[in-house]
Parts: sequence; structure tokens; C-alpha cells
Amino acid sequence: MKSIFEQVEKNINRLAEADVNWARPASAAQLRQARDGMAAIPFGKAVIPAEWLGNLHGKKVLCLAGAGGLQAPILACAGAMVTVLDLSERMLDRDREMAAQERLDIRIEHGNMCDLSRFEDSSFDIVLNPPSLFYVPDVMPVFREVYRVLKNGGRFIMIATNPIAYVCDYDAAAGCYKAVNRMPYCSADHDDQGDWVEYGHTMESYIGGQLQCGFVLTGYMESQMEDITELYFATKGEKR
Ligand SMILES: C[S@@+](CC[C@H](N)C(=O)[O-])C[C@H]1O[C@@H](n2cnc3c(N)ncnc32)[C@H](O)[C@@H]1O
Repeated sequence: MKSIFEQVEKNINRLAEADVNWARPASAAQLRQARDGMAAIPFGKAVIPAEWLGNLHGKKVLCLAGAGGLQAPILACAGAMVTVLDLSERMLDRDREMAAQERLDIRIEHGNMCDLSRFEDSSFDIVLNPPSLFYVPDVMPVFREVYRVLKNGGRFIMIATNPIAYVCDYDAAAGCYKAVNRMPYCSADHDDQGDWVEYGHTMESYIGGQLQCGFVLTGYMESQMEDITELYFATKGEKR
């Protein structure tokens, strides 16, 4: 039987090959803007506030579970020294292609965000984590590792999905969403999910988990998409 992470990797590789929208690389306009000093990291319909990122020039940034050729090239164009770590080689291929095309020096690492042992303590100024924690059964190993690899004063910018995405299912007969699932959610508990592996974490895990690891939360924002159950949130945690 495949491990959870082998199955996730297989699922993501397949979706990257099918060119889903979250596997699309940065546009020329996004890269130009970043080179002009205005790195805009998309977050739902919004962007991560510029002050969360600060001046990226010369900063060591880990783009965690953030392959796909979007965030890492934008950060590198803004002058950051970027490492991107991801479970999916097909997603990392997008960063390889962008790095070659744009002549960017991006360090590419194939690995699991639950184990950052290849990185030394206090080695990054910023860890940026695009929506991806719904692929791990437990967020705590990730938060602990992020805290360890951040320098004092370093920032953890995490983007995640609000639990409403998992609590609600669409009831076609009633023509509306209904709150039917208890949290935390696990796709394996639902017969119709096949090989798909996904976890819905509670806000207690996302917020309480970061606080428990020692982060001081200094930023929070949300971005609502058209579908009422598609609500993203972002936090800025600082290691002090
Ligand atoms: C929805 S994509 C996010 C990246 C994308 N660039 C974006 O704009 O949102 C989620 C990413 O998390 C990665 N991922 C999932 N589980 C992971 C794990 N355990 N360790 C590292 N990366 C993981 C996937 O391979 C995928 O590239």
C-alpha cells in the first residue's frame, strides 16, 4: 500500500500534467512588477500585503510546498534568495523551466514539508507556504520545522483554506450547501473520494498550532471566492 505522501505526490503530478490553474507559472507582467520592487503574491482574489513581505532584496526565502512556477520566480525577481521545496517533481519542473527561461537562481528541493532536516536551524528570513496544508494529516510537524528553520525575527506567511470548505457539502435536491461534516475532515472517511487524499484542519490547529510552536501572530486576512465555501485565509507569524 502506498504511503499517504506517495499517493499525494501521484495525485499532484497527475493534476500538474493536466495543467490545473494552480500549476500555472507567473506571467511576464507579474515578474516585471516584482523586478520593479512590487512583488505581488496572489492569495485568492487578493494579494499578500507588501508589508508582510517587506524588502525582499537579499532575503533568504523558503517557498514551502509552493512549486508550480508562480511564487518562487516572483520572489526571486524581487531579489530574494529563494529555495522551493515541494513533494511533486512535475510541479517543481515549472520552477525549473521558469528559472531557466528567466535566468533566475532558484534552489529546487524535492521533499516533504513535514521534514525540513536538510535545512539548518535559523537559516531563512521568510517561509511562504501557499495553500497546501490540506495534504498533510497533522500541521504540527510542519509548524515546528518552520519555526526551527526561521531566523529570530523571521516570518511565516501561511495561506490556507477555511474549514467551511470541508464542513459543507452541496445538496443538489435542496439547491444549497448544508453543514454536514464534522471537523477535522479526512477524505478517507468518504467512500466517493477514491485515491484522493485531503485533510480539513480546524482553525484551532492552524491558529492554536502556530501559537503553541512559539509564533507571534501579527497578521490575518481573508479572501472570499465566488463559491461561498471557498474562503482562503492568510496568517503572518513571527519568530521573536
Ligand atoms: C495547491 S498547490 C500550491 C502551489 C501553487 N503554486 C499555488 O499557487 O497555490 C499545493 C502544493 O503543495 C505540494 N505538497 C503537497 N503535500 C506536500 C508535502 N507533504 N510536502 C511538500 N509539498 C507538498 C503539492 O505538490 C503542490 O505543489
